[in-house]
Amino acid sequence: MRTHTCGELRKKDIKKEVVLEGWVQSRRDHGGVIFIDLRDRYGLAQAVFDPSHNKDVHKKAEHLGREFVLRVKGKLRDRKEGMINPNMPTGEVELLADELDILNESETPPMEIDDRKLPNEEVRLKYRYLDLRRPSMQEKIILRHNVVQAVRESLNSRGFLEIETPLLVKPTPEGARDYMVPSRVNPGKVYALPQSPQLYKQILMVSGFDRYYQIARCLRDEDLRADRQPEFTQIDLEMSFPTQEQIFEVIEGTVKHIFEKTKGIKLKTPFERITYHDAMERFGCDKPDMRFGLEIADITDIANKSEFSVFKNVIAKSGKVKCLCVKKCDFSRNKMDELIEFVKTNKAQGMAWAKMQNGKLESSIVKYLNDNVQKEIIAKAKAADGDMLMFVADKPKVVCSALAALRNLLGKELKLYKEDEFKFAWVVDFPLFEYNEDTEKLEPAHHMFTMPNAATIKYLESEPAKVIAECYDLVLNGIELGSGSIRIHRKDIQERVMKAMGIKEAEAEKKFGFLLEAFRYGAPPHGGIALGLDRVCALMTGTNDIREVIAFPKNKAAECPMDSCPSDISDKELKEVHLKWDLVKKQ
Ligand code: AMO
Repeated sequence: MRTHTCGELRKKDIKKEVVLEGWVQSRRDHGGVIFIDLRDRYGLAQAVFDPSHNKDVHKKAEHLGREFVLRVKGKLRDRKEGMINPNMPTGEVELLADELDILNESETPPMEIDDRKLPNEEVRLKYRYLDLRRPSMQEKIILRHNVVQAVRESLNSRGFLEIETPLLVKPTPEGARDYMVPSRVNPGKVYALPQSPQLYKQILMVSGFDRYYQIARCLRDEDLRADRQPEFTQIDLEMSFPTQEQIFEVIEGTVKHIFEKTKGIKLKTPFERITYHDAMERFGCDKPDMRFGLEIADITDIANKSEFSVFKNVIAKSGKVKCLCVKKCDFSRNKMDELIEFVKTNKAQGMAWAKMQNGKLESSIVKYLNDNVQKEIIAKAKAADGDMLMFVADKPKVVCSALAALRNLLGKELKLYKEDEFKFAWVVDFPLFEYNEDTEKLEPAHHMFTMPNAATIKYLESEPAKVIAECYDLVLNGIELGSGSIRIHRKDIQERVMKAMGIKEAEAEKKFGFLLEAFRYGAPPHGGIALGLDRVCALMTGTNDIREVIAFPKNKAAECPMDSCPSDISDKELKEVHLKWDLVKKQ
């Protein structure tokens, strides 16, 4: 049995009889004496195999390779002068081996267990068990464990009950594609895997549980990105009789507890609040990175007074002209060309720019901007000498998304914020409907159980674009961490919203009939939110790649290179679930 872990030995343990168990990190042979760095989850310790101390044990150690699993017994001693390793917590001591058990051998591993020598992603995912042995991965997975424990502590202390909801469900309305599971005992029928516990947590409120939470696995068949996996985990909660403020308080208290408990970081609460409208106007997106300014200025009205036909044509077609003012900016022409290409990849047709010098704008477009127009632009953009203005003119949505992307790029490149700062914000007052510029129609922006706010519900039938939803997002450093809403619990409002959203009663009945039925028996006012646990943990470790904090993630093609899923299925197995691969065979 081990007496200590590899990371805990210190000077105070010198002369103790010690047994360590762990993996061979490295083996060095110095003039006949063998040094092994032995690794476990807790750290590294050096074991010494000296032939002048014990010939047999030294002989055995000659055959040790990387990742062999050992038990070493011996006495702990001081390291000699010049042999102390100040970079290792156990660097002042070493174990002089008296006994060695090789508990298991290892083939030469296909990757090194070394944070400085990372192989490519496919290798990391194929040999995930080796990748996970790396100390930095162990730290991340341990952080995730600690975050989950902190969530439980916080929510338990606030009277929330942890309740599991089913994994084989009727489709849940989160807008992505469902993963389907064919039923063997119900030929021709399928279960969906839940995109979230949404409908079930609402039913738990109807059931009177008052405050529910779950560390909930969610499954969505959608295109993957750094912050999206087909399987992910939500910190999901729902409350009865809540105000929006109470939900914010619960989340702020919980996030504060997570950061303090796991990282010793004291966050300031309440978090900043910004309306959807202001976020779009000032930052061009509904998940603004609030660590830095570089806000967008709308110069549409001023540009309309210019002679620049590019601006005027866009405005004539209800487009917008907006700009960023980059302070003290000395970008070269090449750099500007690069940025123009960048906004084009973000769907804008182009970008104009002007440098401010001696109180005037200098640019190829100034000939179209008379003195007054220039002055107004300078005032609106708050430009000063040495600043660079970057203009995008396009459809309103395109202007916003292109300038938002440019703002994020410049914020990073110009180091306008501290990488390790955590800046949370609530985005509130989302519209209930969204204008789709492609179809030129209003479309529901959320699921049909999102409550319109009391002040604007009167516009539901007459001017639906004016209706504000009681819906909110939590944003951290430009990433959407969570999303939630106050739900509709009354039949009359539900019917009006469904009608406005163009959802037919029969369709709603088919999809969510069970929830609507439950609502007939005294549904309390309720609301909730879900935070992406993977995103919380990733951002806490300084990345937005959530694969870094998931033990067994999928690759970009939604495959797991380690177990090769998704995998083939035999005809017999298919038949058992009453399926046949017609379309796949044809391909
Ligand atoms: P929503 O769909 O916005 O809301 O999801 C909530 C949060 O879950 C995280 N998330 C993801 N994380 C990783 N990979 C994904 N594919 C993925 N999709 C979403 C995000 C997101 O903010 N039922 C509602 C919540 C509610 O209204 O209470 C819901 O699921 O961090």
